[in-house]
Amino acid sequence: MTAPVLDACCGSRMMWFDKRNPHAVYCDAREGTWRVMDRGVEREVSVAPDVVCDFKTLPFEDGAFALAVFDPPHLLRAGSGYLRAKYGVLPERWEDEVRRGVRECMRVLRHEGVLVVKWSECHVTLPQLLAAIEWEPLFGTRSGRKGTTHWLCLMAGVSRRREHVQEAMAL
Ligand SMILES: C[S@@+](CC[C@H](N)C(=O)[O-])C[C@H]1O[C@@H](n2cnc3c(N)ncnc32)[C@H](O)[C@@H]1O
Repeated sequence: MTAPVLDACCGSRMMWFDKRNPHAVYCDAREGTWRVMDRGVEREVSVAPDVVCDFKTLPFEDGAFALAVFDPPHLLRAGSGYLRAKYGVLPERWEDEVRRGVRECMRVLRHEGVLVVKWSECHVTLPQLLAAIEWEPLFGTRSGRKGTTHWLCLMAGVSRRREHVQEAMAL
């Protein structure tokens, strides 16, 4: 892979301006097309990654990318319909899932590579998320109608490592 940008869990690539950007590698654990009902309307959800993989074990070398985006599921529960099809659902041990996902993104970034994390506080608050991950974001901002979606920016080799999170993991 020579593309400089990684999307670690691309879903339907909604956030992308160019959904087939040749400078990006699109990954997701799922691949498929689903027809699901959304408030009485049938919608199609399609997830077509370049690489089907788990963001906890990314199949890339250390330092392979200059920029990564990590937008994991934010929901702890969802029905069987549109929300689940579109965004997926976090496992019960969500802290472990997100911590390991961020760790892998940081591993595959080159020194001073940038990680953008998107997080929506539907079921897990921002402080809870920050307590679960091993690096402190440099900065972030809120977005969305209710201001509950966060965009966080981290830099490999620059963002402060949070020792107490590592200690907690060793227990
Ligand atoms: C919030 S959605 C991503 C939405 C996407 N950013 C967009 O613009 O459409 C989260 C995605 O993470 C994927 N996912 C969940 N667990 C994963 C894992 N362990 N490894 C890789 N992808 C995963 C889901 O399949 C889902 O497509």
